[in-house]
Amino acid sequence: MSSEEPRRRRPGGPPPFGAKGERRSERGGAPEEAGSPPPGKRPPLRIQTTTLWEYPSQHYDVYATDASGRRKLVSAMQGDREYVGATPSWVIWQLLQRYTREGDRVLDPMCGSGTTLDVCDDLGRKGIGFDLLPRRPDIAQADARSLPMPDASADFVFVDPPYSTHVNYSDDPRCIGKLDAGMGGRSHANAYYEAMERVIGELHRVLKPRRYMGLYVSDSWRKRAKGDPGQGAGEFMPIGFELFAMLRERFVPIDIIVVTRQNAKLGQGQWHKAAEEQNYFLRGFNYLFIMKKN
Ligand SMILES: C[S@@+](CC[C@H](N)C(=O)[O-])C[C@H]1O[C@@H](n2cnc3c(N)ncnc32)[C@H](O)[C@@H]1O
Repeated sequence: MSSEEPRRRRPGGPPPFGAKGERRSERGGAPEEAGSPPPGKRPPLRIQTTTLWEYPSQHYDVYATDASGRRKLVSAMQGDREYVGATPSWVIWQLLQRYTREGDRVLDPMCGSGTTLDVCDDLGRKGIGFDLLPRRPDIAQADARSLPMPDASADFVFVDPPYSTHVNYSDDPRCIGKLDAGMGGRSHANAYYEAMERVIGELHRVLKPRRYMGLYVSDSWRKRAKGDPGQGAGEFMPIGFELFAMLRERFVPIDIIVVTRQNAKLGQGQWHKAAEEQNYFLRGFNYLFIMKKN
């Protein structure tokens, strides 16, 4: 096993989904948050053709046909629904359908619960996952600012980085989720943006020329605590625009997608009330930046 190729999750397991009638991993089918269709009831995935993407669930269902010709639900989860900060798997599915072919090497340098690797398995792509805190054996440990991969060795890159300090991903001091994207932002020698600049540089290095990448991110808003500098109820952090500007310095922009967050919690009383009373907005969408390396 080379350092750039972490151990596969299912050594000796069934081939990637795609060939008719084959079996595949038994990924769990726990129910999602209120309002989203349960496993077995989700709509089939179709290529999205506008720049506004939505789907009523975090995960998609996968079916296979058994030897007797019966269609059977074989998996209803990609990554881990218990993992806070997981990427909606269907977003990655959309990207891989459009920008990769079977057998392509797809890198996720901040792989979290492994959503990208599971979608790669579903579509017959070769997933390569790294994270500071690997949560399963097919993810290898690495800092996304210094990846153990040769130049121009990935056919596609997907990354969903921390959005400032909202989630405590690990105790590792190198975790970019410990760096505050506020305090004046990129123009003030901000450590979050300096770290992300290095990540983006590394992604550019390992991606093959004329291939694509996707970066999924949200802006952020933080309530100002007593004694914090600045004015008003809180601080808005335009992380999306800042990262897009950084990406443009190295890549050609292909498109910007708005992914709606079908988060039932957003409509709930206390969140809604606080946002109205304190005159701020709850995050309703994520950006998906699609870029190409020349
Ligand atoms: C938003 S989560 C990724 C979610 C993932 N796409 C999924 O669906 O589970 C961000 C991840 O970045 C990782 N991370 C933070 N700083 C890192 C760094 N310097 N190098 C590699 N991974 C890092 C965190 O450990 C966390 O797992």
